[in-house]
Amino acid sequence: PLQPIMIQGPMPIEAEYFAALLDNTTTEYSGNAVFYKGTLDGYPIVVAKTGKGLENTAAATAIGIERYHPRLIINQGTSGGHDPSLKVGDIVLGERSINASNFKTPKLAQGEGSHPFNWLPMDLMASEGSAGEGSSAKDAEKLRYYLGDKQLINLALSLAKQYKRGNVVKGTIGSGNFWNNELDRIAWLHKNMGTSVEEMETASAAQIAHAYHVPFLGIRVLSNNITNHGEYDPTTAKDCQAFVEKVVRAYISAL
Ligand code: 5AD
Repeated sequence: PLQPIMIQGPMPIEAEYFAALLDNTTTEYSGNAVFYKGTLDGYPIVVAKTGKGLENTAAATAIGIERYHPRLIINQGTSGGHDPSLKVGDIVLGERSINASNFKTPKLAQGEGSHPFNWLPMDLMASEGSAGEGSSAKDAEKLRYYLGDKQLINLALSLAKQYKRGNVVKGTIGSGNFWNNELDRIAWLHKNMGTSVEEMETASAAQIAHAYHVPFLGIRVLSNNITNHGEYDPTTAKDCQAFVEKVVRAYISAL
């Protein structure tokens, strides 16, 4: 049997447009995830509505891989801009993604406060040893990036002109269970982790896809960007899916 393409989206507005494109759809439920199985242009597709955040996404990714054996996973949806040159409606192709919420704090005594700009990165995949103490801890003080699939990035870039809502660019997706509204915090993440956008899912899906050697790409539209007064616009979620639709149709037609 053909290995399906898996399209992930966290919220209903980020998954249901794509699910409605499928023919002969059946729906399967597992924990907080909903999987819509069907075909697009005759090729098998699984749309996964994962739910929001790192845990839901990691679980849905592992379940989805074990159950459906996808040849490729695209995690797509909305995001908030960290790069002031990106506008609401622009799309970032995740050349890299990173969990931007993994930190170890330096040691401070009672009364010395908490200083987030001094926090160190913490790579939970650096070793099987402790990330906090002992001989393995120092090795864990680094940023871990997951790379997006190069072929898929190039295919998506080749279709960029067909996307009318904004620009399509390569960038770095920073994920965490966070919604940052502090401009200095956003600037810090942009500078220290190179983030183009933030959202709550891509890096967790990337980590699991990588562990299973499944090619992966995050594709994220900006629904908001407070670095340039870009107001939240949820209609971008559909535009992102419509662009991903073009990418997937082009991918299928080249098989
Ligand atoms: N910060 C964090 N998550 C965001 N999302 C959109 N914009 C942002 C932002 N500025 C996405 C997340 C999550 C949902 C709340 O919207 O990925 O799924």
